[in-house]
Amino acid sequence: MKNIIIANWKCNPENLEKAGELLAKIKDKISDLSWSGKIDVVICPPFPYIACLNMEGTDIKLGAQDCFWEDKGAYTGEVSPLMLEDIGCKYVIIGHSERRKYQKETDQMINSKVKASLLRGLKTVLCIEGSSQIKDDLKDVSKESMGNLILAFEPIFAIGTGKPCSVDLALKENTEIRKIIGDSLPILYGGSVNSSNAKDYIEKANYNGLLIGGASLNPEEFFKIIASLEG
Ligand code: 13P
Repeated sequence: MKNIIIANWKCNPENLEKAGELLAKIKDKISDLSWSGKIDVVICPPFPYIACLNMEGTDIKLGAQDCFWEDKGAYTGEVSPLMLEDIGCKYVIIGHSERRKYQKETDQMINSKVKASLLRGLKTVLCIEGSSQIKDDLKDVSKESMGNLILAFEPIFAIGTGKPCSVDLALKENTEIRKIIGDSLPILYGGSVNSSNAKDYIEKANYNGLLIGGASLNPEEFFKIIASLEG
């Protein structure tokens, strides 16, 4: 299975100019690596930047950090999977713990979002804090429609804290998730990933990629993470 490295920029940077600069630096840094074909690199900027970023000359893919469950209609403030698809998004993150916390997203809402984005053919990155959430978040999602589903294990204590999950615990959770979803779907790890621990999650804890917050805003560190997996 190909490794997938996803940058979740969250609500950063604070303006379009800085977003363009950040992307340009990342493109420039990783252009020397032979990652293309071996690793899928995805950047998930805030919504307003997605359609404005210059993705020419790179194999980096674009993703969004959320989407709604309807394609269009009277839903003030929402952005639909159809719209994301239209502006070139290939990935979408659903159910991040920060959205569960601050936007009070429930498993039922997340379930609707997962179904809608899968139906649109978006690679759908479902974030979970543990295997117990899978049943509700994937309720009535048929095996046949799961082809574009990606799971991301993100323990809350590790998110943005600089206290990464131990490799042992990450491996244990990976094994639990695999028991439920089987062998075919990718599982990512997220939470205080940096260039020193990235490889361990892939090689020792059996993850198929990483969901990276803080370190993805630092082009040098993001480059080092990808470089550490390149071999
Ligand atoms: P950090 O890498 O900043 O801990 O964030 C992880 C995360 O929430 C990615 O979605």
